[in-house]
Amino acid sequence: MSNRPVRPNGSEPSTAPVATHEERELHRLLVEGVRDYAIFMLDTTGHVATWNEGAERIKQYTRDEIIGRHFSTFYPQADKDARKPDHELEIAEATGKFEEEGWRIRKDGSRFWANVLITAIRDSAGELVGFAKVTRDLTERRAAEARALDDARRVAAEEAARREAEVRADELRSLAEQLRQRTAELETQTRDAQEARARADDANRVKSQFLAAMSHELRTPLNAIGGYADLLTMELSGPLTPQQREQLTRIKRSQEHLLGIINDILNFSRIEAGQVVYDLGYVAMRDVVEAVMYMIAPQAQAKGLSFERTESAGWVTAWADKAKVEQIVLNLVSNAVKFTGPGGSVSVACTVVDDERIALRVEDTGTGIPADKLDDIFEPFVQVGRSLTSAGEGTGLGLAISRDLARAMRGDIRAESVLGEGSAFTLLLPSNPPRATK
Ligand SMILES: Nc1ncnc2c1ncn2[C@@H]1O[C@H](COP(=O)(O)OP(=O)(O)O)[C@@H](O)[C@H]1O
Ligand SMILES: [Mg+2]
Repeated sequence: MSNRPVRPNGSEPSTAPVATHEERELHRLLVEGVRDYAIFMLDTTGHVATWNEGAERIKQYTRDEIIGRHFSTFYPQADKDARKPDHELEIAEATGKFEEEGWRIRKDGSRFWANVLITAIRDSAGELVGFAKVTRDLTERRAAEARALDDARRVAAEEAARREAEVRADELRSLAEQLRQRTAELETQTRDAQEARARADDANRVKSQFLAAMSHELRTPLNAIGGYADLLTMELSGPLTPQQREQLTRIKRSQEHLLGIINDILNFSRIEAGQVVYDLGYVAMRDVVEAVMYMIAPQAQAKGLSFERTESAGWVTAWADKAKVEQIVLNLVSNAVKFTGPGGSVSVACTVVDDERIALRVEDTGTGIPADKLDDIFEPFVQVGRSLTSAGEGTGLGLAISRDLARAMRGDIRAESVLGEGSAFTLLLPSNPPRATK
């Protein structure tokens, strides 16, 4: 260990006026052995004069490396540039001491946070002999403080976030409450609507059932009227005068007409009540057209209409119930004949529309239908240009029935018309059974 003098001129640094050699030696050992503090002397110009174990541990220089070097070595470049080391010595000299905390540099260039105390040392005559410098490494403490500060900040931030979250949660709770109320309202509305719908459905079912029952009951006496009229016409109960025969013909015609109307109503109410069964299969449209034309030909002839069938290129088949298709086509063709005057023409054509559909088109050169009525005529009981009281044929159910039937078989009916020039009704039907889904 060094006994080296603090000052190059060799005078001993001492503040104790009387100290034995042993005391000085103990003191030296004490200072040199301290590990937690760097304790060393600077000469009056700031050059390192002594070094202890703590100094070596904190600043990493060995005694031999550092003795004689200026203490500004321990300062960051910016402090050196600002001549901070010199100022500190000036203050210490003027006031006795200088103390601060600040960054210092180790030998390896790393920084440490130091508590520095510089004390001016004077001899018994008051002459400055150098400076005692005590440095503590507070890096750990500073880091701990920084950690504590961070912790405090984090706690504060967490607290703020928690409060924010509580506010959010309150808002969400109130939104959820509003949503719950709205949902409840909607549920009530839905329930009301469902109840109303169920009531309407019930009423509709009752109406359909009533119509079906009524129509059925009416048919029995009507058939009896027809039967007895036929019996009378056969003169089995005695000869008829020409006048009686004429009256019987009228009875019979009215009976047939009324029976037609009742059959329509029965038909319609059955469809509406979902009581119709469809017997689906491949239907050759050519056969349907032939059968219908055979039935209607006499009426068309009587009116002097040209009645033709446009041959389709190929064999047109539909996937449908044959009897229902006949019923639809009969409705369309009899309408065409009914609403076309003498000298006009009615034509029927079948075509393949695409891979999935075929079409049957009934065209006439008749009265036509006003554009704004084209949709209405498919509604039950709607007849254009006819008041409820005026006498005429039909019930206005034919198209309603026909479209219901077509739609039930995955088809449809479309109408086009030019008033005064004619109409065209197109029946669309699927050409194949529905593909199995997946
Ligand atoms: N080919 C047609 N030309 C002109 N009007 C038509 C034609 N087909 C239907 N209509 C109109 O649509 C109405 C409804 O037809 P429909 O439902 O078959 O009932 P109905 O034949 O019993 O009158 C008819 O009353 C008529 O006004
Ligand atoms: Mg009709």
